[in-house]
Amino acid sequence: MAREIEVGPEADLAPGVVRGAGRYAVGNSADELFAVTRRCRHLGADLADGSIDGEGCLVCPWHGAKYDVASGRMTRGPRGVFAKIPGMDAGYRLLTRVLPLGRGVLVKRDGTVFVR
Ligand code: FES
Repeated sequence: MAREIEVGPEADLAPGVVRGAGRYAVGNSADELFAVTRRCRHLGADLADGSIDGEGCLVCPWHGAKYDVASGRMTRGPRGVFAKIPGMDAGYRLLTRVLPLGRGVLVKRDGTVFVR
């Protein structure tokens, strides 16, 4: 059985919050809690330092790639100089169709959220 890691009080996970818990980035996207593995598929940034955009996607703090937190797939590739490299955006989106971010299982007990 997978080990459970305490994330914290559910009340602290307001919409738009993202935090780290073990190997997961746990957050609240449009009032839905999520847990995805926290290393960006691009260059490994910690997605627990990311943000939630207006579409509810998790945005990487380094180069702005966006992830659908339900599927773990990249919906927009890295920005900045990386966006100028032909095929990179589509390549990473394709990569995460095959290798999406892992998703953790969230459990709530007595107002506290755990991930495993
Ligand atoms: S490390 Fe995440 S977009 Fe570059």
